[in-house]
Amino acid sequence: MFRELWEKLLYLIMLFWQCKYDDKMDAGSLNKTQYSGKWHFLMVAADSDNSLLKFRAMDSSVFLLTPMDDTEMLLLQGQIRLSQSMKCITRQWTYHINNETQELILEGQPDLKTEIFVKKNNDCILLLETQEKGSETFRRLMLYDRSPTATKYSRLEFEHRANCMNLSAIFVLEQAQAPCEI
Ligand SMILES: *[C@@H]1O[C@H](CO)[C@@H](O)[C@H](O)[C@H]1NC(C)=O
Ligand SMILES: *[C@@H]1O[C@H](CO)[C@@H](O)[C@H](O)[C@H]1NC(C)=O
Ligand SMILES: *[C@@H]1O[C@H](CO)[C@@H](O)[C@H](O)[C@H]1NC(C)=O
Repeated sequence: MFRELWEKLLYLIMLFWQCKYDDKMDAGSLNKTQYSGKWHFLMVAADSDNSLLKFRAMDSSVFLLTPMDDTEMLLLQGQIRLSQSMKCITRQWTYHINNETQELILEGQPDLKTEIFVKKNNDCILLLETQEKGSETFRRLMLYDRSPTATKYSRLEFEHRANCMNLSAIFVLEQAQAPCEI
């Protein structure tokens, strides 16, 4: 009962939210100690359903973010549980911090740029991926959280933010089984 009221109230509040998010962070100034470690990938918003295809194959995803010593590079390791077989697969990406644009550039994918958004005192991080050139073009926003479940509030806020960015296709990882070990 209380929960239902609370959710209705949140929706009401959201109607009055404005599209003012000023929490973009320069990749070079990311506190590497604070943001290292384990993250759960919880949901993604994109400009089209097509851009979500590969995410729909995931039941859950956990990541380990490790800054590389004395370099402007970040290592991201992932364990993805596939929704069909429930098997875990391993993936790894290397990000370079571009000190001019302050974006992250994925090794081997120079056309893909990644911007970072963080909220103070909040255990989540948002990555906005944009690829405007090449065979595939897309924009997508991804929510990573320290916890395996997003609060109702952070989920609503994510949807609102995605809406502000015209990212209308949304996918929430089902997490039918426990995340893989990482
Ligand atoms: C970075 O984060 C760590 C851990 O949260 C904290 O102890 C440290 O003070 C932070 N550094 C800066 C420069 O904010
Ligand atoms: C970026 O930073 C590196 C290391 O500090 C430096 O060697 C390089 O010249 C910088 N590049 C630009 C474009 O400022
Ligand atoms: C979203 O779409 C509207 C209408 O097409 C446009 O005016 C606005 O600039 C777009 N916003 C973003 C962030 O792309």
